[in-house]
Amino acid sequence: MKRALITGASMGLGKAFAEILSRDGWELVTVDRQPDGDDSVHGPAAVRFQCDLSVPDEVAKLLEALKQGEGFDLAILNAGASATGRFETIDPAVIPRLVHLNAFAPMALATGLAGAGRLNAGSNLLFISSLSHFTGYPGASVYAATKDAVAIYAKSIRKPFAAKGISVSCAFPGPLRTAHAERHAPKGAKAEKRMTPEEAAEKILTAALAGRKTIIPGFGPKLFSLAGRAFPAVTVRAMRRLIYDRLDRDVW
Ligand SMILES: NC(=O)c1ccc[n+]([C@@H]2O[C@H](COP(=O)([O-])OP(=O)(O)OC[C@H]3O[C@@H](n4cnc5c(N)ncnc54)[C@H](OP(=O)(O)O)[C@@H]3O)[C@@H](O)[C@H]2O)c1
Repeated sequence: MKRALITGASMGLGKAFAEILSRDGWELVTVDRQPDGDDSVHGPAAVRFQCDLSVPDEVAKLLEALKQGEGFDLAILNAGASATGRFETIDPAVIPRLVHLNAFAPMALATGLAGAGRLNAGSNLLFISSLSHFTGYPGASVYAATKDAVAIYAKSIRKPFAAKGISVSCAFPGPLRTAHAERHAPKGAKAEKRMTPEEAAEKILTAALAGRKTIIPGFGPKLFSLAGRAFPAVTVRAMRRLIYDRLDRDVW
């Protein structure tokens, strides 16, 4: 039986990954902050770890525990959170929490698991960045910085990991119909326009397991990523009008 590690599997995109992999017969190891006991919260996992990934000491303990177990054929480093608001009002105490959760934890887990030989030969390592990688993101600047960090890290480790037989992919989803997006959506945003986590998870997994390096799920997001690279000033202005100018609250 193939084994997968998924961080942030209690809801949203991570839960959708867990449900697809479980359906396809994978054994799952999941990580989130929820206490054990409720299958409807955790999704289908054989082994669950309760861990606050924004706390480096907890990540170190998790890594030690994972090193004691069997190797993985797939590791999805998905857990993440955002902080939205005007950059001049954001509480600086939020910054390390986001940096630890969105950037430090996936890097530490990838490096630690590979170093300990817990990513099997032929395995896939999947990072979840964001479409914001292709543009400036006024209103979520710290989030965007952490998601860029993960994208560049994934790009940097690709060759050395390939030499160990590990394929590294990085996904850049656009807005999804999850609690995360709902929490941070600007005034008047329409949830039904966002891709469902189930559709995004299916597209991302298919591409990652096929060895695709860069994964942008959906036609609209693909177009946006091209526009972001070709016309950076125009896309940042559009993001400002779509998000920053319509923010009616700070969320972190
Ligand atoms: N939604 C979007 O529009 C969107 C777009 C681009 C990229 N993404 C990225 O996709 C990933 C999944 O997002 P989502 O929309 O599915 O978010 P979500 O619905 O809020 O789910 C986030 C998951 O991460 C876990 N998590 C959050 N903070 C954690 C912490 N400190 N320690 C351990 N686990 C933690 C949550 O579990 P607990 O709360 O139970 O611990 C939950 O399972 C994130 O990396 C996000 O940045 C999302």
